[in-house]
Amino acid sequence: MIVYLADKLPEAALKELGSLGCEVENHPDATSSDIANGIGKAMVLVVRSTVVTKECINNSPNLTLIIRAGAGVNNIDLDAASKSGIFVANCPGQNSIAVAELTMGLILSLDRFLPDNVIDFRSGNWKKAVYSKADGLYGKTLGIIGTGQIGTEVIRRARAFGMPVVAWSRSLTPEKAEQLDVTCAASVKEVASQCDILSIHLAMSPETKSLISSDVLSGLKDGAFFINTARAEVVDEEALYRELNSGRIRAGLDVFSDEPEFKKGEFTSRFQKLDNVYITHHIGASTKQAQMAVAMDAVDIVRGYLQEGT
Ligand code: MLT
Repeated sequence: MIVYLADKLPEAALKELGSLGCEVENHPDATSSDIANGIGKAMVLVVRSTVVTKECINNSPNLTLIIRAGAGVNNIDLDAASKSGIFVANCPGQNSIAVAELTMGLILSLDRFLPDNVIDFRSGNWKKAVYSKADGLYGKTLGIIGTGQIGTEVIRRARAFGMPVVAWSRSLTPEKAEQLDVTCAASVKEVASQCDILSIHLAMSPETKSLISSDVLSGLKDGAFFINTARAEVVDEEALYRELNSGRIRAGLDVFSDEPEFKKGEFTSRFQKLDNVYITHHIGASTKQAQMAVAMDAVDIVRGYLQEGT
């Protein structure tokens, strides 16, 4: 079986695929148009951030399985895949801890102004007085939207920091809330109005698109932190920009609706100009641990496919 890798996977995963008897076509720098130009006889395509368009699918007659080496599948044209009878598999849960760690990092960064601290220090400015203005996180209420694997990992870490948590998700029952030691809210808006920090952990779907609406964002307390390490499209980005531009809230953002594909270099965004926003490069899943776990999960999917055709 020929497996086409369109993004970089750890060496150990390549070896493992080889030991399964797969012929690995390793193209870590491949773009969507490279895929659309044909992936030869490959039956399996593995991508991380490369977008798999309808053209990619239609021009790959031997393709039967696409594996997304990550949780979200929104970089794959699912409709085109399903019309061509191609299975799409993902690797959920493997990078949850990494995303939760970045979430806590953004919260700590906002509270202690860590990036500005470092930049000032590097430029030879000692500003202890300026940076002695953090509130502290202990006792601050964290609002969580989405209590799947990533939301749950964030909750655990916040509870260890002594932060009460108020949460909402479609599947959150009072029993599960008790087990997680969180207060179960009736709506997204209720969470927003009660918390000091709002963090989003939802997959992108037609149901979650713009769920974090202008109404929700305007319900945040003055000075609240807004964290998004999930997907930009679950937020009304226009409304978020307005709230941030007014200076009323601060944010840590790892995702943008117009973020470039993984391998491209240039990115300009109006959010870059706001000094109340700390921006990272969609790196939630980018730890060696998480990338290894995701890659090995992808290998397991190939193994299962070889053994059982599923
Ligand atoms: C995910 O969907 O798990 C992340 O976006 C993965 C990634 O950045 O690789």
